Amino acid sequence: MNAPIVCLNAPRSQRLKTATHQTHDALDKRIMAADIFASREHFAGFLRVQYRFHRDIEHLYADAALAALLPALAERARLLKIANDLSDLGHGVPEPGAPPATLGQGIWHSLGWLYVAEGSNLGGTVLFKMARDQLGLHRGFGAGHLAGHPEGAARHWRQFTQALDSIVMDDLQEQQVIDGACQAFVTVRGYVEQELPRVADTQASPA
Ligand code: HEM
Repeated sequence: MNAPIVCLNAPRSQRLKTATHQTHDALDKRIMAADIFASREHFAGFLRVQYRFHRDIEHLYADAALAALLPALAERARLLKIANDLSDLGHGVPEPGAPPATLGQGIWHSLGWLYVAEGSNLGGTVLFKMARDQLGLHRGFGAGHLAGHPEGAARHWRQFTQALDSIVMDDLQEQQVIDGACQAFVTVRGYVEQELPRVADTQASPA
């Protein structure tokens, strides 16, 4: 398979998108293969994935050094909203677990993790509509964490990418941001494998 072409003059957020495109695509397909809109129970599995990822990175939203680079960072945290969505569906939050070993490698890696969490709001708007249409969920019940920002998900995302793109960093730091984003995607994929069985697996007849 050919490696994606990355234009070095492209904004950082664009380069991150290119660098993680294949991983995102595979994750997206894998989540859909679990048929998360088949029932509210299926959807709760997806909420558990989201909760575990956002629990890992919750502390980043309260980090002073990151907040100095990314305005209004604390307001972007969504862990509580995910907990509320789980509660609406009659579920508690997942048991505490060890944080991923790849987290905690410094501010540049952390920016990559936050890129993934914030970018997922874009796909979240697609998922929100499906949860609404297929499961009857909405901003106030079961799907609050996927409801776009009141100012608009795209605008909210642009504010984030503008801040991310304007941070001055050297080549090594750039690479650390990309590595952080890749590690975040790998972590989410791991949670998906644990929480969301493929439909084909659940329907397989016993040998
Ligand atoms: C079935 C699940 C998902 C679907 C259907 C989906 C779909 C989308 C769509 C339509 C976009 C906006 C279009 C684009 O700019 O490419 C997007 C962007 C994005 N998604 Fe997802 N997504 C899903 C799950 C996730 C998850 C679980 C994560 C990570 C936790 C994630 C991370 C991102 C990121 C980082 C972006 C921003 C890409 C950019 O830089 O513009 N997505 N997604």
